[in-house]
Amino acid sequence: METTMSVRHFLDLNDAGGDALAAMLNDAQDRKAARASWPKGKADADRPLADHVLAMIFEKSSTRTRASFDMAMRQLGGSAMVMEGGSMQLGRGESIADTARVLSRMVDAIMIRTDDHAKIEEMARHASVPVINGLTDRSHPCQIVADLLTIIEQGKALPGLELAWFGDGNNVLHSVLEAAGIFKFNVRIATPAGFEPDMTFVEAARGEGATVTLTQDAQAAARDADVIVTDTWVSMGQENVENKLGAMQPYRVDDALMALAKPDADFLHCLPAHVGDEVTQSVIEGPQSCVFDEAENRIHAQKSVLLWAFGKL
Ligand code: CP
Ligand code: NVA
Repeated sequence: METTMSVRHFLDLNDAGGDALAAMLNDAQDRKAARASWPKGKADADRPLADHVLAMIFEKSSTRTRASFDMAMRQLGGSAMVMEGGSMQLGRGESIADTARVLSRMVDAIMIRTDDHAKIEEMARHASVPVINGLTDRSHPCQIVADLLTIIEQGKALPGLELAWFGDGNNVLHSVLEAAGIFKFNVRIATPAGFEPDMTFVEAARGEGATVTLTQDAQAAARDADVIVTDTWVSMGQENVENKLGAMQPYRVDDALMALAKPDADFLHCLPAHVGDEVTQSVIEGPQSCVFDEAENRIHAQKSVLLWAFGKL
């Protein structure tokens, strides 16, 4: 059995912790600023991951995660390969343990997007190279590093921030809650009954000193918020959603909801968006929307996650 003791896996934000995440956010800002006018494929001057290869396994669709990790590796001087889960032997029943051990002999790190979070934990148990969570049904930590970077770029401090979440209590919200515990910001969650987040994440954030409010009153959640966040009402892999769509209607982010937040409140959405469902056209295309900065920041954030995983931050 290969030892995995000293490997830095990034399955959730707490794997890195507050000091490392703060270092990642600083490094991401510095690297982004240093290459502001460069072609996107040009490597950073120090090429810190020269000769390193990342394998990216996708058992679900992706645009941003795929493109940002590929570009992140190029900009750090390394490269990435995409492995579609369905065309791997993994898709025909090869074990996660064997996949992890084989890839650990061939590449320098593994990023995986999958359904059951237990699969990524199994991958990490057997990999002797870093394993990075590119989204599971339970969490999406890489997205939230990009979201925190976007909030900071908007001139907002994380401690004490009032973030309001609308719609589904899903994987992305779980990582928001983890971040709230780490950076001590407050989260108001407006969901229909039955679509609340996993209370484990709520209690953990509260245990770290964050104020987390759960409500069915969208207007109350929006009032004087610094950041308004939503996500698709139907996540990848979810089925039988007819009742859910009906229940979600009062939680659409529209101009009236935005007007209740602070005048300089930012709108975030990890994308892909379903305009007309969780957000209106006028909000996502409006002056408070940061969604394309947020999408671009996936590259800058993923670079910092990779550097941390390789022990360079
Ligand atoms: N936000 C996000 O993870 O996008 P993709 O599904 O396109 O990777
Ligand atoms: N909650 C969404 C996020 C997509 C990036 C999903 O899991 O499909």
